[in-house]
Amino acid sequence: MAGNNGSSAIVVEGLSKAYGELVAVDGVDFEVHEGEFFGILGPNGAGKTTFVNVITGLVQPSAGEFSIDGDDVSETQTYELARRGIVRTFQNLRLFGALTVRENVEVSSLIAQSHRIGRTIPDTDALIGEAGLWEHRNRRASELDYGNSRRLELARAAALAPSFLLLDEPTSGMSDSESLEMIEQVRHMAATVGAGVIVIDHDLGFITGISDRIYAFDQGTVIAVGTPDEIQANPRVQAAYLGSAADA
Ligand SMILES: Nc1ncnc2c1ncn2[C@@H]1O[C@H](COP(=O)(O)OP(=O)(O)OP(=O)(O)O)[C@@H](O)[C@H]1O
Ligand SMILES: [Mg+2]
Repeated sequence: MAGNNGSSAIVVEGLSKAYGELVAVDGVDFEVHEGEFFGILGPNGAGKTTFVNVITGLVQPSAGEFSIDGDDVSETQTYELARRGIVRTFQNLRLFGALTVRENVEVSSLIAQSHRIGRTIPDTDALIGEAGLWEHRNRRASELDYGNSRRLELARAAALAPSFLLLDEPTSGMSDSESLEMIEQVRHMAATVGAGVIVIDHDLGFITGISDRIYAFDQGTVIAVGTPDEIQANPRVQAAYLGSAADA
């Protein structure tokens, strides 16, 4: 059941999204359980963001369905999916610039207190600390540098007490060392709130370094699912990344 701390699952079957002639997501099957750390890998334009947009209710699927804990939620609005525990961050930041760091996180916590009934609500100050933002807690979000803005976005998402945290390129624009630190923070925060994580990235080395299991996308379809080792050894993944024929 949604709203408690028991195990929860998102199951996606045959999901497609077309924009006119262009099929951005083409018949994707996907399954993730609470507590798992999943990566979505794929080159530019592979359909990663569109897939996440569909399962967070931002765009309607053209075909297929997805469910949370067995309930079909294919037609459900974003805010309602968030109340059921699917929370995302964006490839481009969307913070409340005029509010302080602490206020940004507290807004999420208030929402969680109203809508994540029966779920443990994370302590906002603890999340701010885990995100490495304690010394910045009273600054306006608009004053933060890029790395701190991304970390605030993560803390704010975690404060919603999600069952699943969907992160779209959370480390884009960060240095390698900042990226590694960010991933530790994601893992730590996900464990704190008991959430499953789905992370999108297009960097093969990065995503294989952080994920328990990976879905590799190319041209709207899932071309491989497996552990990081299996994905790196997969000829179709290698072909997609080398730009040669992907059906070897
Ligand atoms: N709103 C839209 N209208 C028309 N086409 C779109 C729309 N959104 C995405 N697309 C197209 O769908 C395809 C998949 O795009 P998507 O943004 O999902 O890829 P992505 O894997 O997230 O890529 P990136 O790594 O660059 O973020 C692309 O060809 C893109 O141009
Ligand atoms: Mg994208």
